Amino acid sequence: MSIPELKKIQQLWQLDWEMISVNTEYYTHSFHPYSSKYVPQIPNRIISALSLKNELVLDNFVGSGTTLVESKLLGRNSIGIDINPLACLISKVKTSIISFSTIQEVSRFLLNLQSDILEYRKNARSVRSEFVLAKLVLNGKLNSNITKWYHPNVICELHLIINNIKSIEDPYAKDFLKVAFSSLLRSVSNSKSGFGNLMINKRAAPKERIFERFSLATARMLKNANDFSKAASNSDVKVLNGDSRNISFIDDNSIDLICTHPPYMAAVPYVEYQRLSLWWLGYDLSSLDNNMIGGRRSRPDTPQRFFRDMKRALLEMKRVLRNKKYCCITIGNPTYRGKMWELNQLIKRHAIDAGFTFIKEIRRGKYHSTMGKMKEEFVLIFRNE
Ligand SMILES: C[S@@+](CC[C@H](N)C(=O)[O-])C[C@H]1O[C@@H](n2cnc3c(N)ncnc32)[C@H](O)[C@@H]1O
Repeated sequence: MSIPELKKIQQLWQLDWEMISVNTEYYTHSFHPYSSKYVPQIPNRIISALSLKNELVLDNFVGSGTTLVESKLLGRNSIGIDINPLACLISKVKTSIISFSTIQEVSRFLLNLQSDILEYRKNARSVRSEFVLAKLVLNGKLNSNITKWYHPNVICELHLIINNIKSIEDPYAKDFLKVAFSSLLRSVSNSKSGFGNLMINKRAAPKERIFERFSLATARMLKNANDFSKAASNSDVKVLNGDSRNISFIDDNSIDLICTHPPYMAAVPYVEYQRLSLWWLGYDLSSLDNNMIGGRRSRPDTPQRFFRDMKRALLEMKRVLRNKKYCCITIGNPTYRGKMWELNQLIKRHAIDAGFTFIKEIRRGKYHSTMGKMKEEFVLIFRNE
């Protein structure tokens, strides 16, 4: 390691990693809730210190695209991979430069939708929404699982919104509006708030003004996308819906930095948390849960599957990373079946077995993030020697 490189790395250790009062919602980071997002300052610091402008950063567990947003702001090209199509949709929208024509298209869409909604509300006084709903389910236009999570009137408005979105031709405007729509689904449902997993609140009052909430979310996103587009570099971002255990589509020795944040073995039920969005957007939940690393959480073989899968992912990470470049993995220690699993130690061992050289572990304790019950998180830094 050269002296300037060593200095740069040592400066990294000296930073305050607790970051208790940092803003994590700037630019497009606030677009959509995502279970166990990491604070954007983690990839920002790692990318700034351990890569150069125009180099290529990989996040092979990209989630909602935090690493990619920071790469684009810092002038690095990036590739994000996730097995979850919802994660890919969010990541794409968060990292795209919004054009004036898309802003116009989205604004026009809201105006047209408003007249459809007003028309619906006028008719809803005479036609009971329960009947409309029953017809939609019967004609296969609505997943029947959805019906218990919303008041019938809410479903009718949501259905009108998503149906209109589906008819948009501009692919970016369509994805943008899908993310705005999806970001709302939990807050207008009858689920209990304050709980990660979905639980019915039997006493929930029906939510109102769904279209108005959607318009507001979209307007906020337009502003943030516009600000992001002005601040971002013109570096390239690729988002791929794929499986980190096999990334044969990436060449050997082609990546300059890996900055990633894998699932926390049995700690975050992604499919459960995102069920409403996955249903409404028409994704297949059960195959996703079967294929996801750390999915099917309650099975007795969860730890074995998790480590087997992570070993495969680590070997792929080692293969694609250039020599003398860094691999940074953020991980926390979950509790599974009453036992705390020291994933920082276990992942470290598996990364060393895969051929990485361990450099440093940064511990974060009282941090402010969405990690729920876990009290600490680690950034593990390896080098490909
Ligand atoms: C901890 S989250 C990443 C969150 C991300 N850092 C963010 O800020 O949004 C882990 C991600 O790994 C994804 N994942 C699970 N199994 C995967 C696999 N086999 N291949 C690729 N991604 C996978 C999950 O879908 C989830 O989005």
